[in-house]
Amino acid sequence: MSEFRDVMSTRDLEEGAMKKVNVDGREILVARIGGRYYAADSRCPHLGGDLSKGELKSTIVTCPRHHSEFDLGDGHVVRWTDWSGIIQSVSRLFKAPHPLKTHELKIEGERILVRLGD
Ligand code: FES
Repeated sequence: MSEFRDVMSTRDLEEGAMKKVNVDGREILVARIGGRYYAADSRCPHLGGDLSKGELKSTIVTCPRHHSEFDLGDGHVVRWTDWSGIIQSVSRLFKAPHPLKTHELKIEGERILVRLGD
């Protein structure tokens, strides 16, 4: 298992904001919601959209590309693209919904530390 990495100060992340950081060459999204902190992959598991450029409402992040939604609490899929009908059916044959990878995070003093999962 990897070590915890110091990624930023809590002062660098306002309430309701998210930022992308690089941890061991991997793009990681760090968010602060309701005084709690979350870490997840910044690349959308659909087709790699940059979630740090999406929208954050409560713990739900929306991908800027095709508007899939994921809960940063555990990464589960809230919505898999905003496509519908035959396009949605066909696209799911090639890319079935799967969750966003989340990562362990802890606060030490004013520092945010993240440990990457597999
Ligand atoms: S790349 Fe994120 S929804 Fe398609």
